[in-house]
Amino acid sequence: MNLEAIRNDFPILKTQCAGRDIVYFDNAATTQKPLPVLEAVFDYSTHRNGNPHRGAHPFAIAASEAYDGSKETVRRFLHAKSTREIIYTRNTTESLNLVARSWAETHLGPGDKILITIAEHHSDLVTWQRAARKTGAVLDYIYVDRETGRFLPEDLAKIDDPAVKLLAFAEVSNVLGVRFDPKPLIARAHAHGAVVVLDGAQSAPHRPVDVQDLDCDFFAFSGHKMCALGGIGVLYGKEALLEDMEPFLLGGDMIDTVGEQETSFAELPAKFEAGTQYVEGAVSLEAAIRYVEAVGWDAIRSQEEKLVRRTLEGLRQIPHIRLIGPSDPAEKEGLVAFNVDDVHPHDVAQILSAEGICIRTGHHCAEPLHRYLGVGASCRASFYFYNTEEEVDYFLEKLKGVRPMMGYDD
Ligand code: ALA
Repeated sequence: MNLEAIRNDFPILKTQCAGRDIVYFDNAATTQKPLPVLEAVFDYSTHRNGNPHRGAHPFAIAASEAYDGSKETVRRFLHAKSTREIIYTRNTTESLNLVARSWAETHLGPGDKILITIAEHHSDLVTWQRAARKTGAVLDYIYVDRETGRFLPEDLAKIDDPAVKLLAFAEVSNVLGVRFDPKPLIARAHAHGAVVVLDGAQSAPHRPVDVQDLDCDFFAFSGHKMCALGGIGVLYGKEALLEDMEPFLLGGDMIDTVGEQETSFAELPAKFEAGTQYVEGAVSLEAAIRYVEAVGWDAIRSQEEKLVRRTLEGLRQIPHIRLIGPSDPAEKEGLVAFNVDDVHPHDVAQILSAEGICIRTGHHCAEPLHRYLGVGASCRASFYFYNTEEEVDYFLEKLKGVRPMMGYDD
């Protein structure tokens, strides 16, 4: 991987802050956009912009081609059977809401269980709380070991309960950094016919996805976490399930015929994509997939592993650092969350920000997990393939200065 050439594709990484190139370690929140993605959107908006599926003029046709064509790239990226299974949404959150509204709320009832994990992002948690409340189903949790971040084996047995009709979890936790191997869990849930929803927000940008091999029923991810523009996300769903679901957004281009009292819906995937489509987002996602694939999964994994390993080794040398989740680099994917004793995470972030380092602080939309772990908030450094070991060293050096700056003479 030619890191210098890659970084040249991201002009924003050359932003000057504290006398150097900014250090962007907030990639789990959103990634930066390379020039080929921005150019693809610029080219579409300059030469081809139109409203897809709604006209016979050249721009409407070009927009339809751009939008529909991008779906084939996403299908290939996910290894889905058909583009009928690829629904564009705004992001992972909207994808999960679609499943909650259009599947869970109409297919579950009293006596049923929804099983999620304590490591879920709010988008994969609050959604199911409401689905449970509306249907009378029970919401239950798989808890994690506080040291290793792994699911408690005794809680995994909950998956085998035939009352569990829906299992939802994130493949990679946005706080623990742990990857939960989804395939065996999916097979276990399928053994008694449960539907499995996989939140791929923190996995799809970093490793190849094969929804047919995983055999998940739904898979959600966001474009902006993998170099695409904000506002474009994907819901993959097995065709038979999607056919059996009512759309939760109604409006233009998702209909077949509309009468005064009744409407029949369009074929998949249009049934779930009401209103003028976000063609610019779709164009950016297609370009982002091509970009990420050109960098290559092996190169991405190896660079991120290097960065995580170096960060964890460095953090071990700094007194008063409390890691969130496992400390073994082999157990972490792309991010490291931690706290500095006696210093509020927001103060840590502000001190680092003044040095030109961007990290995220707070509960990272995982409040129940933080409460379970006994911490109110944490700091998180999250990486992408364009980050460097030099940036990690600079971050560690500045982190060392945080407690002294707050008046502690370690
Ligand atoms: N889900 C994003 C994060 O974890 C916003 O930062």
